[in-house]
Amino acid sequence: MKVTISTRSLSDIESDAIVVERYVGELRLTPEAARADRQLHGLLTRILEDERFEGRLAETTHHHTGGLLRAKRVVVVGMGARGEAKAEAVRRAAAVAVRRARDLGARSVAIGLIGGRLPARVRAQALGEGALLGLYSFDRYRARKPEERRVETLTIAVPDPGDQAAAREGVRLAELAAEATGFARDLINEPANHVTATALAEAAESIGRAGGLRAQIYDRAACAEMGMGAFLGVNQGSQEPPRFIHLAYAPKGRPRRRIVLIGKGITFDSGGLDLKPADAMERMKDDMSGAAAVLGVMKVIGRLAPPVEVHALVAATDNMPSGSAVKPGDILRVMNGKTIEVNNTDAEGRLTLADALAYAVKEIRPDEIVDIATLTGACSIALGPLCAGAMTNAPQLQTRVLRAAEAAGERVWPLPLIEEYREGLKSEVADMKNTGPRPGGAITAGLLLKEFAGETPWVHLDIAGAAFTDKDLPYAPKGGVGFGTRTLLAYVMGAGQPGGRTSR
Ligand code: BES
Ligand code: MN
Ligand code: ZN
Repeated sequence: MKVTISTRSLSDIESDAIVVERYVGELRLTPEAARADRQLHGLLTRILEDERFEGRLAETTHHHTGGLLRAKRVVVVGMGARGEAKAEAVRRAAAVAVRRARDLGARSVAIGLIGGRLPARVRAQALGEGALLGLYSFDRYRARKPEERRVETLTIAVPDPGDQAAAREGVRLAELAAEATGFARDLINEPANHVTATALAEAAESIGRAGGLRAQIYDRAACAEMGMGAFLGVNQGSQEPPRFIHLAYAPKGRPRRRIVLIGKGITFDSGGLDLKPADAMERMKDDMSGAAAVLGVMKVIGRLAPPVEVHALVAATDNMPSGSAVKPGDILRVMNGKTIEVNNTDAEGRLTLADALAYAVKEIRPDEIVDIATLTGACSIALGPLCAGAMTNAPQLQTRVLRAAEAAGERVWPLPLIEEYREGLKSEVADMKNTGPRPGGAITAGLLLKEFAGETPWVHLDIAGAAFTDKDLPYAPKGGVGFGTRTLLAYVMGAGQPGGRTSR
């Protein structure tokens, strides 16, 4: 869908549907809605009364105008209370409104800069993000595409000249955020027979070529050379060769910071010899959602051009059982020399991340590291499907990441790395084992990663619950959410500001 800014007012725009908003507790219509209502001889008011339309957030209704307006249809969307209409309300309202318009057959939609009292840039960005992400669909493998119903243009009416430049900038940022997130969703939704480690590496290389990034891909022999014994241990049961991906963006001029983003890239997690039961294995093509988010960021980073250096790392492999697979009790050596006893082959993500963290610390020596991983069922039990967990050795860095998440409208909540729980990872034969007891499972996983971050400020995001959704969310349809992509974008953009603040 193409998003454009129009300097005309909403009622002057010819379209298949216009969207007008309504706030809870406001008896009077907004000026644009009132104008439509007059042209419809008061019908809109009557419809809203008859339907007891309150204006609750994302409540929608519509009416066909029968030629009384320039637009063929009017969609009304609820915004909640005006004072509380934050960016997230705009995203949600925009998403449901354009979807309603789409389902009514509209190809062109026009909307004002909804969003109460927020700055124009924030409103335009949230509006664009909600609309673009809300219309996402994955139908590559369907013979009958739902494409006959498709919104092709969204026109945002911004008649106030003082808002136009900011609105254009907001739309530009929204398009990049939606492109990154859509790319991540596609990678997650693509099944594991298509998205192999090799395919992930090829995706990374083509991102690199298109965006002027340095792309280094290490094969099995190169990883062995570097001593990535934990990562290769996870791969050794597989028919699919592993790939270690390193993409790097460098700004023009001296970078203000050097950042590493690490994404868990398990293309399919069967559990290995500690095989998962069928219902737990079903959605394990999503176990590369962290990698998808990180690659999504790298796809657009050149066009956002933050004044910081950004490296993306993915240790890509599937986790499969076979005669050559890693066995419970095996001991693996990470590239920094530390050894891990594998007491459960299904705790594979931390093994791959251990080598990626060790590589980051040794080869890149960054100022800060953020990893993002579908790491533990325990985290999804703790926080449910709408929230990721954050763990850190650097509370100030974590605060910046949490602020970025807040700005992006993604829920991330801190979990404590309780030192005493480190005892759960004690091994009789190696420096540590990979799996602790079930209680506190998200935290012991975080504690294992912390060993490999060393002194480098680091935040770990466990997105096991939020990466994939079984039901449609306000602007994420069933399937891969692309969770974390926009948080990481906001974090990276904020890291270029003095003090590393996010500006939204
Ligand atoms: N990929 C899974 C975690 C996961 C679970 C993601 C559910 C999304 C939804 C991870 O590799 C895993 O299997 N973790 C185990 C760890 C356990 C063996 C310590 C788990 O959470 O059960
Ligand atoms: Mn697993
Ligand atoms: Zn996994």
